[in-house]
Amino acid sequence: MFKKLFGQDENLINGELSPEIPLPKHVAVIMDGNGRWAKKRFLPRIAGHKEGMNVVKKITRYASSLGIQVLTLYAFSTENWKRPTDEVDFLMKLPVEFFDTFVPELIEENVRVNVMGYRDNLPPHTLRSVEKAIADTAHCTGLVLNFALNYGGRAEILSATREAIRALEAAGKKADEITEQDIDQHLMSAGLGDPDLLIRTSGELRLSNFMLWQLAYSEFYFTDTHWPDFSEEDFLLAMIDYQNRSRRFGGL
Ligand code: FPP
Repeated sequence: MFKKLFGQDENLINGELSPEIPLPKHVAVIMDGNGRWAKKRFLPRIAGHKEGMNVVKKITRYASSLGIQVLTLYAFSTENWKRPTDEVDFLMKLPVEFFDTFVPELIEENVRVNVMGYRDNLPPHTLRSVEKAIADTAHCTGLVLNFALNYGGRAEILSATREAIRALEAAGKKADEITEQDIDQHLMSAGLGDPDLLIRTSGELRLSNFMLWQLAYSEFYFTDTHWPDFSEEDFLLAMIDYQNRSRRFGGL
């Protein structure tokens, strides 16, 4: 795998993907800046989300073409319900439009859809489209496109811990016997592996309750670009940056 940057970086020393250094297997993205993108253009905030959805399609295609195994996208947090009703309604309709228009291509590209988050309070139309997309792509074996929808990191750790304790009690074991693996396997991302790289767009330098357990050893990449402006070239820059990191996982 050897990709040149799209023409613009003659001065960048590491301006190409290295064929020797592995790419991240799992990339997680906090897609921030839709509102600011819209505001700059005197458009309603929902126009930013709509354009953000198109960028999700573009980056999914690109990540799949690079051979990334899992792409996790933070689409809606448990805190996002506090936004105005019309914005929440729009954000809950987006998955319906996204899956209606994109699932055939996902199947063709061998992309499997996964959704992590609390499903019980999703509107019925959102839940229906999520469940259908998961079922329709269940046979796909390529990229896993994993949406964090109505997701919160602390709540996830809490419920995984509770479930791990219940399983422990059922097996007649003591609290001291609980292991990290016990919690791991009850997380909503169980089986997907921890993200190797977290990308956050739009200049904020925080985690916003996203995958708090899973990001313990991930590399972080921040860019000022608003999500609706995020391009394949921006994604590639993040990959190149990742290849230049030295991951030691606490060792030397
Ligand atoms: C944060 O930007 C973005 C969100 C809360 C929603 C993310 C959703 C998408 C990118 C649409 C894709 C969704 C699917 C299901 C395909 P913000 O609104 O907080 O931006 P701001 O900080 O500039 O106001």
